[in-house]
Amino acid sequence: MPGFGNHFATEAVVGALPQGRNSPQHVPFGLYAEQLSGTAFTAPRAENRRSWLYRLRPAANHPAYRPYEREGLLRSGPFDEVPPTPNRLRWDPMPISAEPTDFVDGLVSYCGAGDPAAGEGLAVHLYTANRAMERRAFTNADGEMLIVPQQGALRIVTEMGVMDVAPEQIALIPRGVRFRVDLLEDKARGYVCENYGPLFRLPDLGPIGANGLANPRDFETPAARFEDDDGHYEIVQKFGGRLWTTVQGHSPFDVVAWHGNLAPCRYDLRRFNTINTVSFDHPDPSIFTVLTSPSERTGTANCDFVIFPPRWMVAEDTFRPPWFHRNVMSEFMGLIHGVYDAKAGGFAPGGASLHNCMAGHGPDKASYEGAVRADLKPHRIADTMAFMFESRFMFRPTRFAVETPLGQLDYDDCWAGFEKARLPEGDGA
Ligand SMILES: [Fe+2]
Repeated sequence: MPGFGNHFATEAVVGALPQGRNSPQHVPFGLYAEQLSGTAFTAPRAENRRSWLYRLRPAANHPAYRPYEREGLLRSGPFDEVPPTPNRLRWDPMPISAEPTDFVDGLVSYCGAGDPAAGEGLAVHLYTANRAMERRAFTNADGEMLIVPQQGALRIVTEMGVMDVAPEQIALIPRGVRFRVDLLEDKARGYVCENYGPLFRLPDLGPIGANGLANPRDFETPAARFEDDDGHYEIVQKFGGRLWTTVQGHSPFDVVAWHGNLAPCRYDLRRFNTINTVSFDHPDPSIFTVLTSPSERTGTANCDFVIFPPRWMVAEDTFRPPWFHRNVMSEFMGLIHGVYDAKAGGFAPGGASLHNCMAGHGPDKASYEGAVRADLKPHRIADTMAFMFESRFMFRPTRFAVETPLGQLDYDDCWAGFEKARLPEGDGA
């Protein structure tokens, strides 16, 4: 994975990559050498991420940006459209528009926290698309983008190469890298975590040891690929919470060779090595962390990306689904496919839920009653892939999120009707 000691070197034309010097006076073929810095120059070596790009023209070769006129539903921190709510929220899946919509125009923000200007927090978006981005690229100065497809495979063309990403895979696009999303199927839908904070990285493993959870070798970085295209090309940029646009006279995907440790990557969630109990009880869901964006508070993430993949349940004398809980961290969940073991209904693939800081939640009544009566034989949860964006910050919903008819106004009812526990007669007050 980029940033964990892996440095990549790739060239689409033999001999394009300079050897031994980052920016020699004469780059092969007259290519332009350009550094892309994902961390401050002076960040500690273990955290320092940068790559050198060798391209047909400098990325600087574009006219001024102007405000992007199209009114959309993409929002950015600080999220202050509506007051934050302590209520538990859940949404039906977003339908895919019949209107021509590409990845950029199909981004709809649900909630977020923090502020890109402050370099902390995150935003949660859903996207739907029914067409490729045609002759336009997107780039985000506000944060890196973790893309979680739920329906429809994507072909993500980036400055540093091409990645095909299908549901159950994820893509991570570094801040500032220009990319275009093409569709490999008629329709696409999924989730995006826009991370304003420290770069996503693999979590430490502690007593687990050197192996387990997501393994570094499974993060795939693209090989250099370029377009020699002198036609007009629109660049849409998110900067300071707003979208901007410019049109330049060539494809931005003109990097012929690159090397370094800052790059887009792809990961297949089915390669996650699940760790869980083989005795009783179950560990906290942090055991399912794929990537973490730390904060300045030790062990308290700006964002954890956590998955709930297929796995064996073998614990004895244990309530196996997620228990009832209230969490200082805030939890946004999505479902890629199948069912989630704490909900008997209502949480559909493509849907979402938000359980904010200290909101009481857990299994619905039907799931609870099934779990306390279950015969605890080894059982495989086979058909599922859920995920969570978990943050130390309270998520603040967008106006869309609280007003859309996709919102389930009866969500609280799934925790209604629990019978009162019965104490032995004569005990207590
Ligand atoms: Fe939870």
